[in-house]
Amino acid sequence: KPVVLSGIQPTGGMTIGNYIGAINQWLKLQENHDCYFMLVDLHALTVRQDPEILKQRVLDGIALYAACGIDPEKSALFVQSQVPEHAQLGWVLNCYAQMGELNRMTQFKDKSAKNANNINVGLFSYPVLQAADILLYQADQVPVGEDQKQHLELTRDIATRFNNLYGDVFTIPEPYIPEFGARVMSLQDPTKKMSKSDDNPNGYIMLLDEPKKIEKKLKKAVTDSDEQARIYFDTQEKAGVSNLLTLLSVATGKTIEELVPTYEDKMYGHLKKDTAEAVVNMIEPIQARFKEIREDQSLLNSIMKSGAEKAGERAESTLKSVYNALGMIPRP
Ligand code: TYM
Repeated sequence: KPVVLSGIQPTGGMTIGNYIGAINQWLKLQENHDCYFMLVDLHALTVRQDPEILKQRVLDGIALYAACGIDPEKSALFVQSQVPEHAQLGWVLNCYAQMGELNRMTQFKDKSAKNANNINVGLFSYPVLQAADILLYQADQVPVGEDQKQHLELTRDIATRFNNLYGDVFTIPEPYIPEFGARVMSLQDPTKKMSKSDDNPNGYIMLLDEPKKIEKKLKKAVTDSDEQARIYFDTQEKAGVSNLLTLLSVATGKTIEELVPTYEDKMYGHLKKDTAEAVVNMIEPIQARFKEIREDQSLLNSIMKSGAEKAGERAESTLKSVYNALGMIPRP
């Protein structure tokens, strides 16, 4: 079975963008791939975290993965820091990544501009730890949203460089980016991607937002000033409307081609209302399952335990071959 690995940061819950761009793909892949899905708590340290809150968020994250349908019987569901090989390989790969190539990472540029008082070295080498995450599992495919494409290219470059020096140590991973929904846009500015770090909470929908709040946010969604209020899919001319159609399509399981003709004589308000209803219908059962799982600490523990065990085995074996290739002497 081909190996799949992906992760999400445990910072403040998950947006519907994380769900559509990433988790929704994971759900499909877990049926016929060997899957590893993690919460990247080490990556979260690049921004100051309150220790108590971080702890809660990691547990929320595990419960939310499971509530979305990531099945711990099929996929390894784990916490990055519980598998120490991530940090270990991360260090090694730091020595095979160049300052120049990390300087070109657009996410680093964006994040350091936003967080000018804490541009730490971890933020700079963030994509190297991400490369370690992926290469440790010899992943064939990495399902992510569009914004992670550059990090995936860097991962491939580092792996190729390493293999050229030491032989075929790493599998070169392929990004798995959905054709549709890879970039869910902000509800307030549909030219920007939806992000939970947006200052305006009306720009994003969280999976754990109250249904009433979701309805309100979608009602306020920015569309455009087309006087005829035409509803069709065109991400350039109709960014806001297309974003709503994307949400509606994912939430109903209907294609854009099926949906568009049903809005021929309708107004933006109809589209917003239908989208809100569909999104709430999709999210409500997830929220209900989340509540149950989140309260069951022993279930969460057993998910983390079996996930970290399965992940740890694979990570350990890769790290061994890396150290061996580099000439590190195993502890006698
Ligand atoms: P993060 O936590 O920012 O986002 C998690 C996943 O959600 C996708 N995503 C989106 N997709 C569509 N529309 C959006 N508006 C949207 N916002 C976020 C992201 O593309 C991502 O797939 N660096 C990663 C975490 C990571 C990782 C890894 C991923 C660490 N190690 C190894 C894959 C493999 C990140 O910050 O994701």
